[in-house]
Amino acid sequence: MYETHYRTHTCGELRLEDRGKTVCLAGWIHRCRDQGGLVFFDLRDRYGLTQVSVSKEEYPEAHAVAAGLKSEYTVQIEGSVLERPESARNAKLATGAIEIAAHRIAVLSLSPTPPIDVAGKEEISEEVRLKHRPLDLRRAENQARLMMRHKMNRTIRAFLEERDFVEIETPILAKATPEGARDYIVPSRIHPGKFYALPQAPQMYKQILMCAGYDRYYQIARCFRDEDLRADRQPEFTQLDMEMSFVGQDDILGPIEELLSRCVKDVAFCGCELPRPWPRISYDDALKQYGSDKPDLRFALEIVDLTDIARDCSFKVFRGAVDGGGAVRGIRVPGGAAFSRREIEAFQPVAAVHGAKGLAWMKLGPDGASGPVAKFFSGDELPRAMQAEVGDALLFVADASTEVVALSLGAVRLAVAKTCGLIDENAFAACFVVDFPMFLPDGDGGWTPAHHAFTMPVKEDLAHLESDPGRVRAQAYDPVLNGVELGSGSIRIHRPEVQQAVFRAMGLSEEIAQDRFGFFLELLQYGAPPHGGIALGLDRLAMLLCGAQNIRDVIAFPKTASAVDLMADSPSAVNQEQLDELRISVDLPEASPGAGRVI
Ligand code: AMO
Ligand code: AMP
Repeated sequence: MYETHYRTHTCGELRLEDRGKTVCLAGWIHRCRDQGGLVFFDLRDRYGLTQVSVSKEEYPEAHAVAAGLKSEYTVQIEGSVLERPESARNAKLATGAIEIAAHRIAVLSLSPTPPIDVAGKEEISEEVRLKHRPLDLRRAENQARLMMRHKMNRTIRAFLEERDFVEIETPILAKATPEGARDYIVPSRIHPGKFYALPQAPQMYKQILMCAGYDRYYQIARCFRDEDLRADRQPEFTQLDMEMSFVGQDDILGPIEELLSRCVKDVAFCGCELPRPWPRISYDDALKQYGSDKPDLRFALEIVDLTDIARDCSFKVFRGAVDGGGAVRGIRVPGGAAFSRREIEAFQPVAAVHGAKGLAWMKLGPDGASGPVAKFFSGDELPRAMQAEVGDALLFVADASTEVVALSLGAVRLAVAKTCGLIDENAFAACFVVDFPMFLPDGDGGWTPAHHAFTMPVKEDLAHLESDPGRVRAQAYDPVLNGVELGSGSIRIHRPEVQQAVFRAMGLSEEIAQDRFGFFLELLQYGAPPHGGIALGLDRLAMLLCGAQNIRDVIAFPKTASAVDLMADSPSAVNQEQLDELRISVDLPEASPGAGRVI
């Protein structure tokens, strides 16, 4: 047996043409079947599975070893490639036409019974999978996902290489930049009491690179945000971060559309050609028609504004909303007339999450409309406006806040699509959401940037920056795929006085702006080029390309929803010496270790 040359082939490589060869393979024991005189096992590596047989009669020594093999042992085998009889072939396996008659087996590593059955198909709880992640990562499903993610990265790099982009790394020990989440901070030993911030994104650095003349930059960048986690959010995640100089919005959206379309076509689990150009939907229209700034366009089902029809109706709830300056809107449930009252009212809590105080409904039967609000709308004006047919149900939300109406019906729209089976899980549908507002109310009477503070307002709105921030539009855009916000970008401010005006509109004092961004404001004075860029969430893109439901499934070592790495058990305590060096004292209440205050 070879010591330094463990294998001549991988476990996914051998075919009928290889019969008669003497080969050496190494890998993990996937499954074993001991039939007395013959032991069979499948040997696995990341390339596939190969069936191995060992005959007691011909190779008693190898057979004795084979009889003791267990799942997940690592072994090296030497043997000859045999053609399997027709009846014993496995069409599902690339190597299914051959097997290896082993004459020698060396056990390289042992394994106790693993806590995860790598070869098995049964559901394993995520907690167990994350705790034993190395074993979990051996499973074919996970291997396929990580390979697909690799292919995605390769596709991205090739695409950008063709277009002259330069890959430049930026610091991880950085200074806080405002992306809207809490920072992870790192204490400095050399400068006690001072901290680095892990970057929420390389935003300022990439703009500085534009000022430094690097023209077309990209980086597959790790970002860190201490925020509430969800299925599509991790505390550390990866962006394809890009920036270009001397560009307008179309110069950025064009290549992004091309790149993402290429990923969907060449990498996705069910690749398809996305129709181009992608639709561009304004932020206002997205909220009105789809109740979301990330509309899922795999199905139509638009929300319809009924405010004008409801203005004069006798239903108090609707009139009250209109009189209060709000809106009444509705959505169709195709075939919903067949639903029971309970089934229809199951959509009510979905709407309530976003503040709707109720969900009015009616059914359209062959004998006319029925349901709680039918009596208020005797004509066919409502169904006509909603292009509804006999057999449908109609759902309505009324509120003095148009935002409540939009978001509630947006959530109902998705729930209806799921319930009625309108979503083709093998389809992809993309769009750009454009024309975002520059600021959103911060809840305390002030304004916070809808994208971030470096976004260039629309030229015509510059005059209102400080007098009426709410009406200023931003040159910002989001690519959206299957209802997931894949990225965000904008044309940036390259003039220091505009940047300062934006900081003022956000309520940042001159001092704070200087303290946080002084170096950047100064740099903008030295011939900053007009520039713009975007960042794509690669975990989210990989999730969609793999058909996964959670970004944890496409991250090799993800954290749980409470930001814990179950495998390595981090975050964890550090020793007193380290804390002393950093001049940090930790004040933990005795009763609840781990829940303390760091001062
Ligand atoms: P933004 O904050 O919108 O923009 O982030 C860009 C994209 O990154 C992804 N993303 C996340 N993915 C996983 N977990 C998270 N916690 C998380 N947060 C964000 C999303 C999002 O669309 N610097 C700007 C971009 C720019 O203006 O160029 C930025 O970071 O897919
Ligand atoms: P009520 O008059 O409160 O009994 O409500 C009658 C119907 O109107 C019920 O189906 C409620 O769910 C619905 N409803 C109440 N408030 C609203 C609202 N703000 N928007 C839509 N429907 C509502």
